[in-house]
Amino acid sequence: MSYAQRVSARHRVVLLRRARRVALVALAAGALLASEVSLINQLVSRGEAAEVVRSGGPEAAAALLPVPVIVQVEATEPPEGCGADGALRAKDPAALLDAFGGAKGMHAAILAGDAPCVPLDDPALPWVVVNKQRPLDPIRYAPGVLAVPPSHVVEGSLRADVVESFEKLVAAARDEGSGRLALFSGYRSYDDQVSTYDSQVGARGQEDADALSAHPGFSEHQLGLAADVVACSDAGCGTIYEFGATPQGRWLVENSWRYGWIIRYESGHTPTTGYEPEPWHLRYIGPELAEVYHEGGHHTLEEFFGLPAAPAYE
Ligand code: DAL
Ligand code: ZN
Repeated sequence: MSYAQRVSARHRVVLLRRARRVALVALAAGALLASEVSLINQLVSRGEAAEVVRSGGPEAAAALLPVPVIVQVEATEPPEGCGADGALRAKDPAALLDAFGGAKGMHAAILAGDAPCVPLDDPALPWVVVNKQRPLDPIRYAPGVLAVPPSHVVEGSLRADVVESFEKLVAAARDEGSGRLALFSGYRSYDDQVSTYDSQVGARGQEDADALSAHPGFSEHQLGLAADVVACSDAGCGTIYEFGATPQGRWLVENSWRYGWIIRYESGHTPTTGYEPEPWHLRYIGPELAEVYHEGGHHTLEEFFGLPAAPAYE
């Protein structure tokens, strides 16, 4: 049952209780006939009792059933899972996951529209969804602390709190025989994305650039939670464009979720994401939700969270 349905159900229960109190008080005072009590009960089931009692009943009854009080009392009750005020205030991902009994519960609650304390637009939370319809908020957001993971080429950095999970992923790929992975491009500021996007437009034209590179303020790289990776060997590192066909690329498809990362732009999902496949672009969402994503056979964050497709900018 959704939050709205539950509130509505609770609302009816309160209306029923109060209307019965009104009827009893009014009957005791000789002010209501039995047929009017029955009418109230019928109207309660349609959620209209308050109005009838207020407009047609005795004054004492009206005083007992002020409509705004009923609505306010019920609407402020937090839905199940969001009841932990501490979790709500702290916006601590672990506390929020706990409040829902884990990622499965949180995911189900989000899909049911029953998790208002789990915003999908807070750029600090690992499950934030950024796409062509959902810019970062604020548009020039920058994460707090960044760090350069040991496994990097060129200049890459990531949000400091996800570096460990990135290195665990790199170590697992190596230990399981797939070879060496390295971060090619991680955090990109708003201004960095201006340069990245402009250079793609210069090289390919705007239409093709839009299928490959996000507008400034619309890139997951600005979160510090996205990692473009390349495959390396003793001969050096390849490019992102070759990555999908490498053993490392194939390993990631099966295993990245174990460390909290998903492949964000998969083949066959351009109508939803607005981007051509990018087997090199990993996105951190946390190991708990990544497991639910993997087990559920999901392919985009949009359908995972029941959000609209974002093939283009508004
Ligand atoms: N290449 C991805 C879509 C980005 O620019 O964020
Ligand atoms: Zn990328």
